[in-house]
Amino acid sequence: MKAVTLITSSNRHGNTKKIVDRLTIGIEDNGGSNEVLFMDDYNIKYCTGCEACKKGGGCVLDDDYNMLMQKIREADYFIFTAPIFYNDLAGHSKMFLDRLGSLAYDPELEMKEKKTLLMITHISDKINDFVIENTHRCIVTANFKVNKILDVGGLLDKKFEEWELEDYEDIGYELEEYDIIPHKLDLDSATL
Ligand SMILES: Cc1cc2nc3c(=O)[nH]c(=O)nc-3n(C[C@H](O)[C@H](O)[C@H](O)COP(=O)(O)O)c2cc1C
Repeated sequence: MKAVTLITSSNRHGNTKKIVDRLTIGIEDNGGSNEVLFMDDYNIKYCTGCEACKKGGGCVLDDDYNMLMQKIREADYFIFTAPIFYNDLAGHSKMFLDRLGSLAYDPELEMKEKKTLLMITHISDKINDFVIENTHRCIVTANFKVNKILDVGGLLDKKFEEWELEDYEDIGYELEEYDIIPHKLDLDSATL
């Protein structure tokens, strides 16, 4: 299995990277690979709502988005990671997700039911369920199928125990086996 991970935290040595490294070990132990990309290394603009994508052909903005999406399209599995800033998904992480709408109007560009792990990281013990469900809903836009959600909190000065990190290796090993998780967002009212 070929996975692509997008880390939207800019922290090269942060908690997200630590966890992703262990997911990678699990994926590799199972004969797969994981290409880890930091969003920071790419030029990603925000969606201007121009609606050109409604004609098909994807997003017309001139940046690295379509190239990144092609990398993800060519993989078997997508891992999306995002930090929480001010009780919500970080703005730059959301910016990436806003652009997913551009794929929804062109069957050639859809993700063909690609299984996906969604990882949210934060220092608090608990964040509002809506944040996770709404992020899940954004990812589903382009026909990604989320089959694992990691809500990783309590990260302030976190020192991981080795057994905790080994659990992430196990998750990496089993990634494709998890059942698809239906999203719970009521689209009409945008409430849970
Ligand atoms: C500007 C900013 C705002 C943040 N706001 C929150 C917050 O409201 N709640 C929370 O639990 N963590 C908050 N955090 C902490 C980040 O979520 C946390 O440091 C990050 O997810 C850890 O991932 P990393 O080590 O991979 O960067 C904030 C961090 C920054 C930089």
